[in-house]
Amino acid sequence: MTVQETKLQDLPIDLKRELLPKHVAVIMDGNGRWAKRQGLPRIMGHKAGVDALKDLLRCCKDWGIQALTAYAFSTENWKRPQEEVDFLMTLFQRVLRQELREMVEENVQIQFVGNLQALPRSLQREISRSMEETRNNPGIRFTVATNYGGRQEIIQACRAIAEKVQQGLLQPHEINEQVFESHLYTAGIADPDLLIRTSGEMRLSNFLLWQMAYGEMYITETLWPDFDRTEFHRALCAYQRRERRFGKV
Ligand code: IPE
Ligand code: IPE
Ligand code: MG
Repeated sequence: MTVQETKLQDLPIDLKRELLPKHVAVIMDGNGRWAKRQGLPRIMGHKAGVDALKDLLRCCKDWGIQALTAYAFSTENWKRPQEEVDFLMTLFQRVLRQELREMVEENVQIQFVGNLQALPRSLQREISRSMEETRNNPGIRFTVATNYGGRQEIIQACRAIAEKVQQGLLQPHEINEQVFESHLYTAGIADPDLLIRTSGEMRLSNFLLWQMAYGEMYITETLWPDFDRTEFHRALCAYQRRERRFGKV
């Protein structure tokens, strides 16, 4: 079933279908604090965070949202204790392997953005396989930002463009927003309409710097593992009350 064909009977009545964001992005923050509050090690927060993401993906699908992008690991997250980094890499790999069949069945198209070459080889293999197997799926487009950094993304785009100029394939005056965007990791994916950040921090933390030029931001104090349908509903209600002006009056 494509997103359009899905019966949207689950959509809460106070949400207007025509005003839903097409693309929602999430900075899934607060796993560590969630675990600490329960007296658990930080890694248990990451485990609980996976369940919250699975629920959100399903909810987006049920409510007819066409694209979901989740920030799973930043280029700065390598600075965390080695055991936490190792746990996360293993968790990503395991979850991907476990969930692939269901994503195929549900017609999800999964994609990864970031510097994927620096990830463990076994995770890279799982990533390639999942993208390959879901490439032509007509359902929700699910993008996972892994070893992603907005600044790094912009720099690698500049390098690729500079090389084309050096080879005479592109003239400097031909570089415009479209050309630039086509060299970003997110090439072909529309900019997010709504970015949600959990756990109260009011910053982008190097996420989608270019793409968020006109995206709406919604910040909630709720910690990521507690972010559920009710919270998402609240975020969408807030979004629908916004007036997006894009510089116009
Ligand atoms: C977000 O939760 C998950 C990742 C960055 C991988 P955190 O681990 O940042 O949780 P807090 O912010 O320390 O509570
Ligand atoms: C942002 O959260 C990265 C992810 C959610 C993957 P962080 O916890 O790393 O961000 P800072 O350090 O609080 O800015
Ligand atoms: Mg954090």
